[in-house]
Amino acid sequence: MNTQGMKYEMLFAPISINGLELKNRVVMSPTHDGFANKDGDVTPKLIDFYLRRAKGGLGMVIVGAVAINPRSFPPLVRLSDDQHIRGMSEFTAKIHAESDSKICAQLIDWLKFGKHWKQTINDLTSEEIIDKMDYFVKGAARAQQAGFDAVEIHGAHGYTIASFLSLNNKRTDGYGKTFEGRMKFVREVYDRVRNVVGPDYPVGIRINGDDFIIDGNTLKQTRLIAKALAEMGLDYISVSAGGRYEDARGVIPKVECPHPYPPIGGYSGYRCMPPSWMPEAVNVYLAADLRNTIRQAGFQTPVITAGRIPIPKVAEAVLKEGQADLIGLSRPLLRDPEWALKAEEERDKDIKKCTYCNDCVEREIHGEPSYCQYNKEQ
Ligand SMILES: Cc1cc2nc3c(=O)[nH]c(=O)nc-3n(C[C@H](O)[C@H](O)[C@H](O)COP(=O)(O)O)c2cc1C
Repeated sequence: MNTQGMKYEMLFAPISINGLELKNRVVMSPTHDGFANKDGDVTPKLIDFYLRRAKGGLGMVIVGAVAINPRSFPPLVRLSDDQHIRGMSEFTAKIHAESDSKICAQLIDWLKFGKHWKQTINDLTSEEIIDKMDYFVKGAARAQQAGFDAVEIHGAHGYTIASFLSLNNKRTDGYGKTFEGRMKFVREVYDRVRNVVGPDYPVGIRINGDDFIIDGNTLKQTRLIAKALAEMGLDYISVSAGGRYEDARGVIPKVECPHPYPPIGGYSGYRCMPPSWMPEAVNVYLAADLRNTIRQAGFQTPVITAGRIPIPKVAEAVLKEGQADLIGLSRPLLRDPEWALKAEEERDKDIKKCTYCNDCVEREIHGEPSYCQYNKEQ
């Protein structure tokens, strides 16, 4: 589309990610929806949830997080076994048939936890490392087979890859301690994923720009990480923040579950899903910094930013100022699935605005579907 003269010409300019043509730069940031069934299969409700957003004018929906290990908690949609491919194929086929949005799967693995115990990266055995690598490789292959247009490796927040990348990774077996050691797992995962999906299949990654915890990664480390990832050949880098276990506050979940400390209860959690008391676009500077770092190193890797970007005007300014290449939206799309369509048609006033009350996040913490309390249709 020629977007010249449009009010939001940057937002609606197409972009190519390793040959995958997105019609615009508005993507649904991964949003654990809670609509899978107890076996981790897609349900009509889940399909409808994403379809409404895909039809709402997005360039791409990133489904997630999609579990790739065999553990059953938390209740996520899954690609941890071949048995899930069929349902996922029906899901992607529907998105492709009824919208012109692309669909990507965010692949997640996490460390074990119990009621009073959380595994750290330093506790992982060599066998577990090999298993985890396999999860990513098989998960990516299944996503490709199921018709996803792309995969995103979840390397942000408090999960496995972020834990390898963390300064708290003190492993002495080559998978930690030094910068190269901390990068080793993600390098091997990416190489093996790339090997199975082939050179033309888009593989992105989500990382933290800043962990927002004491002794966590800051831009000082993440600049090096982003540059290395671009050099490795990742097809996009999505920049998130926080969401760590180290400062999580305990909650008593309403549902029976062994997960009393979701990584979204402390300050770092708030940085991940910035509430109304934080400024608009509060994390954009992280994406802008990493994008600048990558560009200066000679890489054109597209960068996604997300976090409290409420209205098209703010999103357009972020793109115009060269702070990011794509805009990720999560809570604004829970509130209004047609955010992008209304922006494209310059019907800004019709956009139902997210209040960033984080009621959806509370719901997620308690293991319930994370819909918006103000959007009765979900
Ligand atoms: C209910 C909910 C679930 C989320 N689940 C995920 C997830 O599974 N993976 C992930 O990387 N980010 C997840 N996020 C973070 C979002 O992708 C996004 O980065 C964050 O909410 C900031 O964007 P926003 O201000 O547009 O909501 C979730 C956010 C919300 C609100």
